[in-house]
Amino acid sequence: MTTSLMHDLVPAFAAARTIEYPWMDDAGAATYLDHASTGAIPRRGAAALERYARLRHRPQELQAEHFFPVLARSRELAARLIGASAREIALTTNTTHGLNLAAFALPLEAGDVVLMPDGEFPANVFPWLVRARRTGATVVRLPLVDGVPEEAALLQAIATHPRVRGVAVSWVSFWSGARLDLAAIGAACRARGAWFTVDAIQGLGALPLDVKAAGIDVLACGAQKWLQSPWGTAFAYVRDELVTQLEPPVVGWMATEGSEDLGAMCHYREDWFGDARRFEQITLPMQDFAAMNESLALFLELDPHAVAAHIAALGDQAVAWVDAHPHVRLVTPRARAQRAGVLAFVPPDVAGTSARLRAAGVMHSVREGCVRLSPHWYTTPAAFARALDLLDA
Ligand SMILES: Cc1ncc(COP(=O)(O)O)c(C=O)c1O
Repeated sequence: MTTSLMHDLVPAFAAARTIEYPWMDDAGAATYLDHASTGAIPRRGAAALERYARLRHRPQELQAEHFFPVLARSRELAARLIGASAREIALTTNTTHGLNLAAFALPLEAGDVVLMPDGEFPANVFPWLVRARRTGATVVRLPLVDGVPEEAALLQAIATHPRVRGVAVSWVSFWSGARLDLAAIGAACRARGAWFTVDAIQGLGALPLDVKAAGIDVLACGAQKWLQSPWGTAFAYVRDELVTQLEPPVVGWMATEGSEDLGAMCHYREDWFGDARRFEQITLPMQDFAAMNESLALFLELDPHAVAAHIAALGDQAVAWVDAHPHVRLVTPRARAQRAGVLAFVPPDVAGTSARLRAAGVMHSVREGCVRLSPHWYTTPAAFARALDLLDA
């Protein structure tokens, strides 16, 4: 692949970076390596937010197109991103909503077991603990090995645990960056007749995903990180065959057939939509979804496979750097297939290293005792090399 001299990026990324993030070329600009916390909204998304702010200030100028067609496009784009149909997408305002949908709508009975690795983000733990307490089911957390989930042990547990009913995982760990093989877990779940739910927020946007190939039943994903969208944008995927079997655990007023007719609302017919809109809670933040549409369209234009290749190469760079700097430990697995964009390092002095990075304008975070760097498609190898060098005093 040819790279642009100016940016050390492939030409399509260099051009998009110049248009969407002009501030990144300012003298002394920050090096933004914190997508695992909060994504950088592209200029076209920021423009959508500004457009809506103006429209809400002068609401007489709002048109029908500013409402439901925006949400319809969000469902279509989210579906395209994960190889689903728009009928399988419910728009939500955070990942947590989709995880609660999974935990409270999927069948679970006394004695059943839900498997997950230890070290999950709390949003993917608390809903299951509460549902388990209410039903008499059990959540079994499998121990980590060297800080990362042991996939073989998870597959073994799925195959052999006498009461396994479901598996709930994060695709990519929020702190170690370990990526699970969703297709392998999905196949094991299918073989066992167990349902399979995924928190995809730390993977989607850095990696492509095909939910059908992975055999996922319910997926929840916030768009505020790797998908570079506003807070308050997220979606849940519910596999088509499951949609009509699940009753919404929290009930929206526009979740039923005919609810678009705002002239006749007081018939109260419990006639849930036959698609995943039955799980939505309207009113949704139109301005935020309008901006999300811009970000998802950009990501699809750039090509998720090309983005993943760039991020994988930055990961390779981190592995090579750690090999040359034995004081710093890489917690993230070294193999490309087992990592995404979250890279976790343990330097001898985590707090001091974090302070050094901050002083140099390298935006990052510290999670579970690790310095977490999370670069994206516009991170140049040169800028990433400078950040890596700051990890070693
Ligand atoms: C794995 C994971 N799940 C969920 C969340 C957040 O969920 P929500 O979108 O509900 O705030 C985060 C990060 O904040 C996360 O890293």
